[in-house]
Amino acid sequence: MTTRSAEAALAAYESLAPVYDTMKAGNNTGNWAKLLDGVIREAGPPGVRLMDAACGTGKTTLALRDLGYKVAGFDLSPSMIAAALSRGPGVAFQVGDLLDPPPGLGRFDVVTCLDDALNYLLDPADLDRALTGLAGLLAPGGVLVFDLNTLHAYRGVGATTTVIMDTDTEYVVLTGTARPDHAPGERLTLDFATFSHDGDHWRRADSSHHQRHHPAADVRALLEKAGLTVARVYGFVDGSLFDELDEHAADKALFVAVRAAG
Ligand SMILES: C[S@@+](CC[C@H](N)C(=O)[O-])C[C@H]1O[C@@H](n2cnc3c(N)ncnc32)[C@H](O)[C@@H]1O
Repeated sequence: MTTRSAEAALAAYESLAPVYDTMKAGNNTGNWAKLLDGVIREAGPPGVRLMDAACGTGKTTLALRDLGYKVAGFDLSPSMIAAALSRGPGVAFQVGDLLDPPPGLGRFDVVTCLDDALNYLLDPADLDRALTGLAGLLAPGGVLVFDLNTLHAYRGVGATTTVIMDTDTEYVVLTGTARPDHAPGERLTLDFATFSHDGDHWRRADSSHHQRHHPAADVRALLEKAGLTVARVYGFVDGSLFDELDEHAADKALFVAVRAAG
């Protein structure tokens, strides 16, 4: 079933996919994957089968593979999946919706959903449906790890215009429609204007990313409703994890939830 959340995210990523990896080139994926590995190990999954839901171009998925996980992934955007398949030929990357995961995926020891993918779900009911679906992919004792943007992130970069990439061949401007007092649970739009130089001309592509802030207390309640136990909620600030989430200081919230061992 197609939802408004999925339609909007699909349009955004079919447009952004060609420049997505260049745009994220400054991110330290190796460090991020090591942090994720640490929180996964602390939660103690029964094995190393890992499904990366909303895997995008597969950069983090493959960094986790390099740390020993047996990975697979799915994403809504065929263009993002095409990039993942060319980066990781032979990995089971496929097109699929968080709101209606592909049938027959099987069960996994770890399920990840990273880099604000769940913020693209624009209603609490969609978040409920996605978390229930992700919980259903976990084997007994399995661990779900995902991040969400915080109020701090939306009130900062989400409420202004920022040049987020500036090279000889790529230029990306982000304009957010949030306000400095963006409210818990409120939606916003992040507009990306990307300029790529092909040798002769600059080409412009625009994509609008509609997101929602999901309050941590609501997320905890939905995880419990989905039959999971919330193990940790970390704050992520400037590349480091903090034991307590402060919505007003952290860039991201990192949730770790566990399915009972059966
Ligand atoms: C910021 S990207 C993150 C990609 C990847 N997880 C990473 O860490 O690089 C967000 C991703 O979420 C995907 N996405 C958004 N809504 C989705 C949905 N309903 N089902 C599956 N994927 C979705 C987008 O297509 C996009 O690839």
